[in-house]
This record gives sequence, structure tokens and C-alpha cells, in this order.
Amino acid sequence: MTNDKGQRTIPILDALQACAGHPHAPFYAPGHKRGKGISDRLANLWGKSVFEHDLPELPDFDNLFAPSGGIKEAQALAAEAFGADKTWFLVNGSTCGVIAAILATCGTGDKLILPRNSHQSAIAGLVLSGASPIFITPESDPSGDLAHSITPDAVSQALKEHPDAKAVMLLYPTYHGVCGDIHAIAQRVHHYNIPLLVDEAHGAHLRFHPDLPPSAMSAGADLTIQSTHKVLTAMTQASMLHIKGHRLDPERLSQALQLVQSTSPSALLLASLDAARQQMVLYGEKLLSRTLRLAEAAREQIQQIPGLSVLDATNTPGCFTLDPTRLTVRVTELGLSGFEADEIFCEQLGVIGELPTFQHLTFILSLGNTAADIQQLVQAFTDLQQRYSRPDASFRQNLCQLGMTSGLILEPSMSPRDAFFAPKERLTLDQSVGHISAEWICPYPPGIPVLMPGLAIASTTVDYLRQVQHLGGYITGCSDPRLERVNVVNSKD
Ligand SMILES: Cc1ncc(COP(=O)(O)O)c(C=O)c1O
Repeated sequence: MTNDKGQRTIPILDALQACAGHPHAPFYAPGHKRGKGISDRLANLWGKSVFEHDLPELPDFDNLFAPSGGIKEAQALAAEAFGADKTWFLVNGSTCGVIAAILATCGTGDKLILPRNSHQSAIAGLVLSGASPIFITPESDPSGDLAHSITPDAVSQALKEHPDAKAVMLLYPTYHGVCGDIHAIAQRVHHYNIPLLVDEAHGAHLRFHPDLPPSAMSAGADLTIQSTHKVLTAMTQASMLHIKGHRLDPERLSQALQLVQSTSPSALLLASLDAARQQMVLYGEKLLSRTLRLAEAAREQIQQIPGLSVLDATNTPGCFTLDPTRLTVRVTELGLSGFEADEIFCEQLGVIGELPTFQHLTFILSLGNTAADIQQLVQAFTDLQQRYSRPDASFRQNLCQLGMTSGLILEPSMSPRDAFFAPKERLTLDQSVGHISAEWICPYPPGIPVLMPGLAIASTTVDYLRQVQHLGGYITGCSDPRLERVNVVNSKD
């Protein structure tokens, strides 16, 4: 049962408003002193109000790491709203939540089972904790362009081989809105009495509408991390971490979060989290009904444009359900790569999507989108098809030759932490074959880190990275943006 009266309030915003309205001479950080010191340009552009509320942890406000007032109250309301026992507000994005979840469950040498397409923050968590990854290859789209979820059977197999694992981490939903069979996965994980940690960065909205896939927590997750800023209406970097049940130690989590968060948490971010929670409890279903209608209309209209198809992988391995507010459109039948279409959209057609891959473009639809946005999106696809398509079979053949998931190296030759801290040498990409990577390299598509500290570099990996570059994909994480050289563990040491 939700506390209806309490859920109407926004305690952090109330406390902030009271502090901002209290007349006083400020001799504390931040240096702009409630906006009085900001540049004229900033004042003209943003107004002063935002700075008047950009306050530190004043006595009448609260302290994120020892909450006893408005923040404590707001976190308790969020826990109730999101179906958790306890919630922490995060000011360093889900990135710090994922790292803290790993630090709270694994120490040096402990095993963590996780999908090979885990976000960079999970790799950071492995480096910082010293945990040993047990990777599971995710299922993938037949095009090889999109990585989906891991399956319950793959999780069972990993647990059978590694019954001493300390936790399992799941990516739910994926960037493309693909949701694995989380109910079944939670049951199999709990059979070993270990926690299921869920990177639900893209799923903060799921709990608030019956036509969306189940939220991770309602499906049995012990811990979930949500980027409230990605799909709900909090400010960028504002996220939440929720726990439920008895398999996690809240004190260790609190301590882990202190290791990875700023000691000057932004009151603006915290207030925006509190307001996003209140908005969802009061109006979430109604607002999401509208978003779902818009998404459905967009899906139907785009699907009718010749040469375009909208992802619907439901009931395939690795895709139990799909978040309908995420649209992933395949554009290659138009003779364009996702990257080319993305550029045309952005530069010529006034539409900016979320994530291009070789064959697809992905769009996030949320409460903030309007019918006019959808009209513009559908018009942009119509224009793309009519004015920019370039049917070219050889181009499509090239793209179809890509597909890396089957050749991915799963077993690290060294722990990610040891490789990260080991002495390094910088080699050309060709010379690096046979060495152990000391860095993280993630090509899009399919957004799977093909290299990370501790993984051996194979010639197939190098070929794949070159092919991604050649076809205009993009590669993140590498220390040399042109990827001519790569840092490896110094083998002579
Ligand atoms: C799957 C996934 N997990 C975690 C993160 C990190 O989230 P944040 O940007 O809130 O730090 C992202 C960011 O894109 C993500 O896609």
C-alpha cells in the first residue's frame, strides 16, 4: 500500500525552497553564493532561480550520506513507490550504482556472473573490487547487430559450473528495450541463495504501467539500479538504487556508495529525483498511457514505410518481452547504415535519436514526447526513404558479414583489476595479438566490450575492430581514439 498523502509531497524540494527563502549571508560553498556571483550570460540564459536552489548540505536541508530529514523521507517514499525495502538516491548516475552493487557483493577474487554485454560501469566495478568475471554470452539478433539478454538456462549453467559465485548481474532491459525472462532468472539465482543485481538503467518507468514489462524488483531482483534521468524526468546523472529482501547488507552498500559518489551531492539532482517519484506515483499511469499510444502510432506508421522494419523480438531466445516505448528501426534495406541515417536525421531532418548501430537506429520515447515529435519522426523516416535511400546489395552483404558475438573471448587471462594496475606497453593493433589487454574497447555495434583489462587479444578481435572502423561504426573506451595503438599488459615484466 502506498502512503497516498506522503506520496503527494516532495520533501527535498520543500526543504530546498525553505532554505532558499531563508534570508542569510552565505559564507559556504558553492562560490556563486545563491546566484549572486554568476556571469551575466549564465544569468540571462538560465535565470537565477536554479542557482538560488543550488545549495550545499545546510543544517536545515539534509546530508545524503547520513540522512535524517528531507532526504531520508524522500528515499523512504521512493522505496515505497518503486516496491523496494530501501532506496538510495544517486548523484553520479547509475554508473556509481552499478559499481557500488559490485563492491557490496564481491571482494578480490570473488566470482560475479554477468552478461558479456554489460555496461562499462560493470567493468569498472570489476576493476575496483578485484572480482573475477564469469561471463555469459548474450543472445543476439539474427542480424548480429544487436545484443539481447542472457537466458535462464545460460544462467543455470554458469551457476552449476560456479556454485561459489557471490552474485549474478543482469542487464534488464537492454538499450534496445529487450527484456529477458527475469522471473525465471531470479528463481534460478535464488536457488543458490545469492543476490540478483539488476542494471535497470533503462527501466525506471516499468513499474508504473501494466502494459510495460514487469519491473526488475517486482520480478524478484534483490537490487536494481535505475537511471531515473534516462526514462523518467529527473535531471541528468540523477539515479536510484533499490534493494529488497535479505540477501544484501545495506550498511556495506551505504559504505560502497560513499566510495564512488561526490561529497558535494547536488541538491538540484536530489530534488529532481524526489519530484520524478512524486510525478510517477500521482500521474505515471496516465502519462505512460499517452507515451504508449504515441509509441504504438509511431511503430505502426514507420512499419508501413517500404524498406523499414521496427524491432519486435518478443518470444525469441533472449527476448521474453519488449519495452514498447523503445523503437529500434532497421534501415539497411534503404541501402543506408544506421550511422548514415543518424547523420541525415540529425543534420538534414531535425530529429536526433539515441543510438545508431550499423543496421539500426534506436529512439527513446518517454513522458516528455509529444504527438508533434512523433509526426516529425514519421516524416523524417518518410523523407529518408524517399530522398536518401540507396539500394545497394553489396553494401548490405558487407554489413551482414559482421557478427562478433560467437567469437567473443569469455575467460579473462588475468583479473581485470590486476591487468588495469599492471605495468603496460603500447603496441600497434597488429602487434597486440596474443597480449593481454589493459584497456576497455567497446565497438558499436553491438555495444559489447570486445576488449577489457585482463582479456587476451585474438586476431579475430583485431579483424572485427578494423571492420567496425571501416564501415563507419564507432568505438568507445580506447586510449587511442584512432585505435592504431592499444595498451597491453607488459609481458616482459
Ligand atoms: C545499460 C546501462 N547501464 C548503466 C549505464 C550508466 O548509467 P548513467 O548514465 O546513469 O551513469 C548506462 C548508460 O548509458 C547503460 O546504458
